[in-house]
Amino acid sequence: MKIGILSSGGDCPGINATIRGVGKTAIMHYQMEVIGIHNGFSGILQKDFRVLDERSLSGILNLGGTILGTSREKSFRKLIIPDDTHSAFIRQAYAELGLDCIVCIGGNGTQKTSALLSEIGLNVIGIPKTIDNDVWGTDITFGFDTAVNIATEAIDRLHSTANAHKRVMVVEVMGHHAGWIALYAGMAGGADVILLPELGFSDEKIYQTLIDRAQQGKPYSIVVVAEGVQTKEGEHHPANHIARKIAKATGIETRETVLGYIQRGGNPSPFDRNLATRLGGHAVERIAQRNFGCMVCIRGDRVDALPLADIAGKLKLVPPTHDLIIQGERMGISFGN
Ligand code: F6P
Repeated sequence: MKIGILSSGGDCPGINATIRGVGKTAIMHYQMEVIGIHNGFSGILQKDFRVLDERSLSGILNLGGTILGTSREKSFRKLIIPDDTHSAFIRQAYAELGLDCIVCIGGNGTQKTSALLSEIGLNVIGIPKTIDNDVWGTDITFGFDTAVNIATEAIDRLHSTANAHKRVMVVEVMGHHAGWIALYAGMAGGADVILLPELGFSDEKIYQTLIDRAQQGKPYSIVVVAEGVQTKEGEHHPANHIARKIAKATGIETRETVLGYIQRGGNPSPFDRNLATRLGGHAVERIAQRNFGCMVCIRGDRVDALPLADIAGKLKLVPPTHDLIIQGERMGISFGN
């Protein structure tokens, strides 16, 4: 068999570990041919690829980014309309590449595109990837553990400077729709206020928490904000906006730090390397069984797979009853609501 691998959507640590897991399993265990398709789905139409062999797959386990490059998938997805000429082009490009299957490494958008490709007749296997951890159907995505480690280390560092100046420090982490990074890094980093997109928040609640802390003699406070948080009125508040409002409302000197793309950079954590390896190997097993049209996933400690059609368009959001939220509230941590 001949398989193609592509990475699509935002990059994150662990993509290369996945490419290595897929490629080495396919080549060494199943004697398959493997090509790497460049820059996401657009590489299919442009037939922009390279042959992958053991040598090209060595030394990439711990590398951040993706050796294949990536791109956002929205423009490509618009071309995939069943029984449409564009889809015929995609099917033709897939046939001309001589592929038996394409492995698509990506987040929600990628899995949605993969489901459409499967609908128009391509053999596709999805592998969930994102630091946001918001892909439905899998307990965790690779990239998330590394991002939480990076964000927690940054928050740990911010305690000393906030304490030195007796300030409120507002830290913005990534997570557009889902607050998984804010919840896990906020709790691990000892935040006093954690704001999640899923919960919304009221300004007054935040101010009161910070004023109470100051009146109790707490020298500083840490506020962790997911980039996608909105007020109950549906306003979108990045950290600097929230910091300005806190300073004005409480009179406490406040600063903000936006962690941004640092959370997506650098080497994957050991956990993410092994998760990526397990998912990559399982994807090839499914290909060998000709069990296409699914996304591999981790559920408990089992690697499994779900139909792409069941995944497409869904998000895995933080449930308000998550035990880290319950536990945080019991310890006096405010979630702004
Ligand atoms: O999906 C991962 C992510 O890092 C989000 O947390 C963030 O909002 C988005 O990608 C940024 O997208 P881009 O890399 O296209 O700027």
